[in-house]
Amino acid sequence: MKSILFVDDEPNVLDGLRRMLRPMRNEWEMRFAASGAEALALLEAGPCDLVVADMRMPGMTGVELLEAVQARRPETVRIILSGHSEMVAVLQTVRSAHQFLAKPCEAETVRATISRAFALRARLRDEGLVALVAGLKSLPSLPALYQEITAEIDSPDGSVARVGEIIARDVAMTAKLLQLVNSAFFGLPRAVNRVGDAVAYLGLDVLRALVLTSGVFSHCDEKTARSCRLEELWRHSAEVGALARRIARAQGCEGKLAEIAMMAGMLHDVGRVLLAANRPQEYAAALARAQEIGTAAAEREAFGHSHAEVGAYLMGIWGLPDLIVEAIAYHHAPGESQDAGFTPLTAVHVADALCDGGADADSRIDAGYLARIGVADALDAWRAMYDEHEEAA
Ligand SMILES: [Fe+2]
Ligand SMILES: [Fe+2]
Repeated sequence: MKSILFVDDEPNVLDGLRRMLRPMRNEWEMRFAASGAEALALLEAGPCDLVVADMRMPGMTGVELLEAVQARRPETVRIILSGHSEMVAVLQTVRSAHQFLAKPCEAETVRATISRAFALRARLRDEGLVALVAGLKSLPSLPALYQEITAEIDSPDGSVARVGEIIARDVAMTAKLLQLVNSAFFGLPRAVNRVGDAVAYLGLDVLRALVLTSGVFSHCDEKTARSCRLEELWRHSAEVGALARRIARAQGCEGKLAEIAMMAGMLHDVGRVLLAANRPQEYAAALARAQEIGTAAAEREAFGHSHAEVGAYLMGIWGLPDLIVEAIAYHHAPGESQDAGFTPLTAVHVADALCDGGADADSRIDAGYLARIGVADALDAWRAMYDEHEEAA
């Protein structure tokens, strides 16, 4: 049974949660604490899979509590509960919280948010992976793009469109932006899959707070960028994103699905960024070793897990749309997915293989998977799209 700890200083809120979630009592062991101190005492007493903490509490705030939880039990999923009016303050908690819930929240939203976090853990079930990702705190941007966005946002005539355009070129900023707008906190009726929509939705003021004051966006040092070949990775990510969108469009996926394919392509190697930024020396060594034994094997040797698993796990826990998380998780092994037809995963898998593989792209494409989902015939056309793009570049 999963154990969940709810922390709120208002007895009414705790009572409400207790009542609303009673139907879950056979699946979840739920505990309730009225303060951060009480919560930490309960955590000392026994393990806990997930903590939902109120933002504003006297004594220890929700952010302080989640930071303490992160330090003591990094594997615990952390969700912050907060009022709508506290948006900017809550944005600052992004680093210690995995997901957000806005008060007042419906039983179904709370249940779905918690269940989703658990389902993803089940899919990527591995205590080692959970602990590994929990220890990878920083997801930095390229120094040049970080400078560009700071300048744009600082400038008196900074524009939302230009900010969006810079973010769309940066793997880390794209991931964080999508995390923010897809969190239940913003109460959007549907998932947001386009950087442009997300930027327009948040507006320049919130973005300014994010970039300049909250430290959500950060940049890596030049040395890491060089030793881990991050610029190359950024270029590759953008290329895969663009090709995945074209492939999706060619398959008749208009609008949203094509955008999801693009975002998924942009983020498919986000696990590499995480590993490189947080464990640069081991990552650089794994890059060299990959020449001999292949990337996945080299990563498993160094970290116990591949970048696909690492990236999918983090993006899932951040609340990105399932289609994106799945494309990341299976981009090197689409046959292991549940796909029964063309999905953004298909587009990302093929685009990645074409962009990465050059002459031996074919050996990287899972022909059995394409046949299974009934799109094997389309491969030649996709290859032609890639060639066209290469010639143009
Ligand atoms: Fe990859
Ligand atoms: Fe890739």
